[in-house]
Amino acid sequence: MTRFKIDTTFINREREMAELRNYLEGRPNSILFLYGPKSSGKTTLMYRLFEEMEAEKGYEINFLNLRKILLTSYDDFIDAFFKSSSAENGLKTGTRRQYSLFGLFKLDAFTEKMLKKRQEDPFLIMEREFQRLIKKGIQPVVIIDEFHKLDGLYLPDKQKRLMVELMNFFVAMTKESHLCHVIIASSDAFFIEQVYVDSKLRKTSEFMKLDYLEKKDAFVWLQDIKKYNQVQEYTLDEKQIKIIWKTVGGSAWEIYYILGKLFQYSLTAIVSKIKREKVAMIADWTFDNEARNCLLRHFRKQPIRKLTELAGTGKAILGQAVRDNILYYDPVDGIYGIQGKSLEWGIKGYFEETETDILVAKNARLFK
Ligand SMILES: Nc1ncnc2c1ncn2[C@@H]1O[C@H](COP(=O)(O)OP(=O)(O)OP(=O)(O)O)[C@@H](O)[C@H]1O
Ligand SMILES: [Mg+2]
Repeated sequence: MTRFKIDTTFINREREMAELRNYLEGRPNSILFLYGPKSSGKTTLMYRLFEEMEAEKGYEINFLNLRKILLTSYDDFIDAFFKSSSAENGLKTGTRRQYSLFGLFKLDAFTEKMLKKRQEDPFLIMEREFQRLIKKGIQPVVIIDEFHKLDGLYLPDKQKRLMVELMNFFVAMTKESHLCHVIIASSDAFFIEQVYVDSKLRKTSEFMKLDYLEKKDAFVWLQDIKKYNQVQEYTLDEKQIKIIWKTVGGSAWEIYYILGKLFQYSLTAIVSKIKREKVAMIADWTFDNEARNCLLRHFRKQPIRKLTELAGTGKAILGQAVRDNILYYDPVDGIYGIQGKSLEWGIKGYFEETETDILVAKNARLFK
């Protein structure tokens, strides 16, 4: 097997893992929504949970990562959620484990045929499967990552939104029938907002936020990259660790990026490039658009703002900022924040540059 110069690692998340376990150990009573800023580690945490619990008897964990799946029609949904049992035969054991990550529910040949001919109700098939497992003393768990990707799909004849129907079905399976646990993860803050404003869903769901790594965890990691990432070529001193934290905070993905580049470049050069990139990104997003400039000005000195503090900026532009991963929305606390520390530098740097430009232009006029 290839040995890389830097390995991936899994830092802490004990509290979050305990929270997930606590949910799974209780009687199914609500859907659990896992949300959080882009690349905060939701998928990684879900896989971790899946791996831990897969070995335990008594649970049937069904994990579906919709990011990997092309979803443009109802049939794509059927293919994603249901797998034909015949396809599994003949796969090697290793591949079989991989296969288990695709498709939630195994079908016998007859049901598959009926489902494809649209003579079987997919929701009924799922419910039957939950009941079958429970009869065997097994607790079914459904985990769906990137759930918002189902948006835009409809049920064939009824013209009903699939995402809404599926969510209603999961409410029935959790709160009403207590048949199965359902964890839904999504980085799409807009989707979470939709769920949160739907009073029926809010009352039948739990919301769990996964934020970037905390300072102490990032420091423990960076103080021993030999242990955590098998990096042999260099170590980091306290000053460098502080610089990394100040630049990207607890964003694991960006920390990896820096660690990878350190084999070749100095930390100063890497940090400077990250900041320049972010300034350029903000300049591009705000280009020729006063409303966007006005919105981000609110975040110049403060990375987090309450909705009430943003009065006058317009909900549409706020939504766009969230969709474009500039801002991040936390529905539970009703706050908007900048998506990550490196982008804070982008916003700060962008406004400093524009102000300098204005000043230079002003001076040029004065001395003409
Ligand atoms: N606890 C952790 N320790 C170390 N690295 C982590 C940890 N959690 C996530 N990462 C790393 O951070 C990166 C982003 O993680 P991941 O894709 O799980 O985030 P996400 O929240 O699912 O992102 P998205 O918002 O795009 O769905 C990955 O490269 C992953 O390896
Ligand atoms: Mg993810």
